[in-house]
Amino acid sequence: MLSQLSVKRVFASFLLSSTVWASTYIVHEKRESTPSGFTLLSSAPDDQMIDMRINLSMGNRSGLEAALEKASSPTSPTFREWLTKEQVENFAAPNTETKEAVAEWLATFNITSTPATPAGDWIKFTIPVGTANRLLKTQFGIYNHTDSGRAYVRTTEYSIPSDLQAHVKAVHPTTSFNGPLKQRSPITAVSVVKSTSLVERRATVPADCNSTIIPSCLQDLYGIPTTLIKSSTKSKIGVAGYTPQNADAADLATFLKEFRPDLPSNLTFTTELYDGATNIQDGTQAGLEANLDTQYTVGLVNGIPTIFEDIGYTTKDGPDDGYLDSINYLISQESPPLVFSTSYGFADESALSLSLTEAYCDAIMQLASRGVSVTFASGDGGVASSPGLSCEDGFPPTWPTCPYATLVGATQNVPEIGASLTAGGFSNYFPQQSWQADAVNAYINKLGDTYAGLYNASGRAYPDVSAQGGTLEIIINGHSDYVGGTSCSSPIFSSVIALLNDELMSAGKSPLGFLNPWLYANPQAFNDITIGNNPGCGTEGFSASEGWDPVTGMGSPNYAAMRTAAGL
Ligand SMILES: *[C@@H]1O[C@H](CO)[C@@H](O)[C@H](O)[C@H]1NC(C)=O
Ligand SMILES: *[C@@H]1O[C@H](CO)[C@@H](O)[C@H](O)[C@H]1NC(C)=O
Ligand SMILES: *[C@@H]1O[C@H](CO)[C@@H](O)[C@H](O)[C@H]1NC(C)=O
Ligand SMILES: *[C@@H]1O[C@H](CO)[C@@H](O)[C@H](O)[C@H]1NC(C)=O
Ligand SMILES: *[C@@H]1O[C@H](CO)[C@@H](O)[C@H](O)[C@H]1NC(C)=O
Ligand SMILES: *[C@@H]1O[C@H](CO)[C@@H](O)[C@H](O)[C@H]1NC(C)=O
Ligand SMILES: *[C@@H]1O[C@H](CO)[C@@H](O)[C@H](O)[C@H]1NC(C)=O
Repeated sequence: MLSQLSVKRVFASFLLSSTVWASTYIVHEKRESTPSGFTLLSSAPDDQMIDMRINLSMGNRSGLEAALEKASSPTSPTFREWLTKEQVENFAAPNTETKEAVAEWLATFNITSTPATPAGDWIKFTIPVGTANRLLKTQFGIYNHTDSGRAYVRTTEYSIPSDLQAHVKAVHPTTSFNGPLKQRSPITAVSVVKSTSLVERRATVPADCNSTIIPSCLQDLYGIPTTLIKSSTKSKIGVAGYTPQNADAADLATFLKEFRPDLPSNLTFTTELYDGATNIQDGTQAGLEANLDTQYTVGLVNGIPTIFEDIGYTTKDGPDDGYLDSINYLISQESPPLVFSTSYGFADESALSLSLTEAYCDAIMQLASRGVSVTFASGDGGVASSPGLSCEDGFPPTWPTCPYATLVGATQNVPEIGASLTAGGFSNYFPQQSWQADAVNAYINKLGDTYAGLYNASGRAYPDVSAQGGTLEIIINGHSDYVGGTSCSSPIFSSVIALLNDELMSAGKSPLGFLNPWLYANPQAFNDITIGNNPGCGTEGFSASEGWDPVTGMGSPNYAAMRTAAGL
């Protein structure tokens, strides 16, 4: 019986592959050349196993998009009626036709996939490179990521059958040349005082918020409340951490004792580990970024539960794709944290292919639809996005530019000015969004011909908002250190959102959720910052100005005004 079955299957496969698909493959994605930072070492051996994922088209993407627009537009009668997990899954689940078409195609190569998300919009399987080459009519190579020295199996072009084009959103890994996700450099701002003990430093350096930011500076500057939150709060905040960054609980305790002595001394973060992450607790292995992210959330949110979402490198699902895993993990949770802050990124937008970028953005859209505010540090290379990037094709846009994420730029000093390192500009992948059109076009009009051809005036503009990223004091391995960059800005801004969510939900209201349409509709809720510019690519960069600008977005938080704008 068994052998008969397999004979039938092989026969059916043969039929399908020869009559339906064999001659109709067309190119799905292509890169002109190997991206900089990678070199081709050799073709990948046929018997090397590769973990592949295919992202299927959502059954009803336009339905989800429309539902999110209704929930997030301040003028909508159903404003902030976020969707349930089930509602989102109903939109996201691929339709039967899509699932069957893809399953049949894979079956012709004897491939069985398993769902990787509850909605089944993302499937995965492990196959030899030889099979992957035939499946995608390509030749996978081994590429050296010269920064990390790690080997990646990738290709510059692949094809799929023409009648599957509409069903398949992205195939990964293929043409996305992403190295490991890197933290936005928390630039060590004042290296001379590094490693000075706390006591010594306090004797010699008086608190001065213009030169050094500590939590009380932010509380004063933005009007952030200091009252301990009730333990019954429904607000939660998540911060991403990527290996090898470890968030140190002992350093957090030292930080709180020093800067928030008013809070219970046992406040800490909880940790969710995935993809082999460990979050080693050893002061000498504490990470600047991870300590910054946990200290400037727990240190500001007054007891709101804070989750360190710690993502490892090597996964059974593929190398260095933790960013996909983390978003899918949050999507699969019944009650994900309502704010999720990430201070890591790829160097620029073009590191990931358009289709993978869209698929990732769709995942963020699903979270946003459920009332999660997804925030990212905008990047630290000014108009060049990341320090050291090439500007051959104009100002390279940052990663991610997904319109469903809120990008946070940096300010410095008191009174605040735009920080020169802030990545700000315009996407080449996503168009300008309707909720930002007025604010952004007003800026573009002021700009006139300046930088014409160097930026994409029809692209999604960023950052959306900003917060301090000048010189922040953190504790690392028991000592003070000083860091700056948009890495600081995202957790600070996100903490403000978590506090507002607590107030809203305590009052029986919905959380803020997908922020962008609301932010742009409420300019009065932010401190408009009109001084500063973000040089890069051999230019002075963009200048801050009245209203939205590509250095400080709509401005920095004004807690009282945001509270009012939120309906409290
Ligand atoms: C998609 O969702 C919208 C909004 O709920 C609905 O009107 C439409 O019929 C749905 N389309 C499909 C193909 O299910
Ligand atoms: C197909 O998969 C089955 C189960 O894994 C395996 O036993 C069989 O050898 C495979 N056949 C081919 C032609 O690869
Ligand atoms: C990968 O690149 C790094 C840096 O250029 C180099 O040191 C290493 O030898 C390369 N690895 C291989 C296998 O070529
Ligand atoms: C704040 O610091 C900057 C340099 O970091 C300095 O130029 C400015 O004058 C200072 N402002 C005040 C009010 O001290
Ligand atoms: C922290 O201490 C307080 C008492 O000061 C106690 O009520 C609370 O349960 C403790 N929390 C944790 C997480 O241990
Ligand atoms: C896969 O694509 C669908 C849309 O086609 C999206 O809803 C989903 O979130 C994507 N998954 C990932 C992990 O990007
Ligand atoms: C500019 O942005 C638009 C809208 O997203 C896009 O269609 C276009 O391809 C972009 N132009 C370039 C040169 O990337």
